[in-house]
Amino acid sequence: MLKSVADSYDLWLFAPKEPDWESRYLRGNTVVDTLDPREAMESAVRLAESVQIAGVLCYDEIRVPIAAIVAETLKLPCANVEGVRACRDKHLGREALAAAGVEQPASRAVASLEEAQEAARTTGFPVVLKPRALAASVGVVRADGPEAVEAAYSEASEAYFDEIPRDHAWVLVEEYLDGPEVSVESVCRDGRVTPMFVARKALGFAPHFEEVGHTVSADDPLLDDPAVRHVLQEAHTALGLGTLVTHTELRLTRNGPSLVEVNARLGGDLIPYVARLATGVDYGKVAADLAAGAEPDVTPVRTASAHIQFLYPEHDLDVTSLTVEDELPPGVHEVRLMVEPGRRLRLPPRDHVAGRYAYVVTTGASPEECAEALRAATPLIHLAGTPTG
Ligand SMILES: Nc1ncnc2c1ncn2[C@@H]1O[C@H](COP(=O)(O)OP(=O)(O)OP(=O)(O)O)[C@@H](O)[C@H]1O
Ligand SMILES: [Mg+2]
Repeated sequence: MLKSVADSYDLWLFAPKEPDWESRYLRGNTVVDTLDPREAMESAVRLAESVQIAGVLCYDEIRVPIAAIVAETLKLPCANVEGVRACRDKHLGREALAAAGVEQPASRAVASLEEAQEAARTTGFPVVLKPRALAASVGVVRADGPEAVEAAYSEASEAYFDEIPRDHAWVLVEEYLDGPEVSVESVCRDGRVTPMFVARKALGFAPHFEEVGHTVSADDPLLDDPAVRHVLQEAHTALGLGTLVTHTELRLTRNGPSLVEVNARLGGDLIPYVARLATGVDYGKVAADLAAGAEPDVTPVRTASAHIQFLYPEHDLDVTSLTVEDELPPGVHEVRLMVEPGRRLRLPPRDHVAGRYAYVVTTGASPEECAEALRAATPLIHLAGTPTG
C-alpha cells in the first residue's frame, strides 16, 4: 500500500516508532501515539503549518477512528467519525443497521454467561459469539447448542487486544448466517457506494472462522447483483459513512445477502494486492485518491482471477526448517515463507495469523485455474518441525 500511494503522492507517516522498511516510501514522518486522538490531532495541525496536507489515510483497523478525527480536524475529505466508530464497534454498527432495516442477523450485546445463554436460546441455534470490537476473527466462535455456549462465551469474553479498552457488554450473541462468505471492496464517495471487486472467502478451523484464502475474479457476477448492491448502499447510508474505501463482509444466505460487517479501510490479508493481479487496478492508489478528494478510476484493465492461500501446519509445532523449491508451476505468482526456523506455530484459536507459515498467490483465467496452480505449488513447500504438546 505504501508503495502504491508513494507512486502518486508524497507520504508522511504518523506511527508510534521511527520507520524502518517504510522509509523508502516516505517524504517524512512523525513519531506519535496513533491511539491518542489529541496527540495525533495536535501533531497533524503542527505539520499542516509547514506542509500542505492533501488527505489522511489509515490502513490499520484499530486506528481508523483516529485517522477520521484527524481528517475532520484538518477539514480534509473524511470518512465521517461517527460512521467509522459504528464500523469499529460491532454493537453500535448492528444498532445503526437495525434502525435502517438493513439485512443482517439478529444480534444482542451481553455482559454475562447467563445473558449469553438467554440470548442464544431466544435467537435459536446455531449462534455466533464474538467480541464487540476486535479483529482478525479473534474470539469469534460458533455454538451449535446450549452446551457449547459456556466455552464460546469464555473464549469471546476473554479475547482482547492490548490496544482496545474493554468495556461493559463485551460480547455479542448473533444468529448464525448460513451460506458462502464474500467481501466486497467499495469506493464510497460522499456516501454513494460503488463496488470495485468481490473476494470469495475460504474459512477454516470451525467452529472458529479463520480466513484461510481469498479469490478475486475481475468479472465476478456478484458485482452487478442488485441485492448485493442494495445491501451495500443501505449499509453505508445507515452507518453514515462519507468518503473512503470500505471492506464489507457478507454471507450469501438462502434469503439473499446479509451483512457480517463493514470495515472503514481496505481489506487485510493482502486482498487488494491479489485483486490488483485480477483487475489491474491499484487499490492502494484508489484509497489515496479518495482520501485526497480526487475521483479514482476503478475500471478493471484486465479480466483475470487471482487467489491467495495461507498455509498452516497440521498441528502445533516448533519450526526446524522451511523451504520452497526453485521451479514453481505456471500460474504461481508468488510463494512467501512467513516464518524462520525456531518459531513456534500454534493453530487457531491458540494463534490466528501467527499460526501461518507461508502464503501462495496464484493467477489464472478462472478460479479453477488458480486452484489448480495452488494444488501444484503446495507440495513444493516443505515444512519440518517438532510437534509441541
Ligand atoms: N452472525 C454471523 N453468522 C455467520 N458467520 C459469522 C457471523 N458473525 C461473524 N461470522 C464469521 O466470523 C468471521 C469474523 O467475524 P467478524 O468479521 O465479525 O469479526 P472480526 O474479528 O472483525 O473478523 P475479521 O477481522 O477477520 O474480518 C466473519 O468473517 C464470518 O465468517
Ligand atoms: Mg470481519
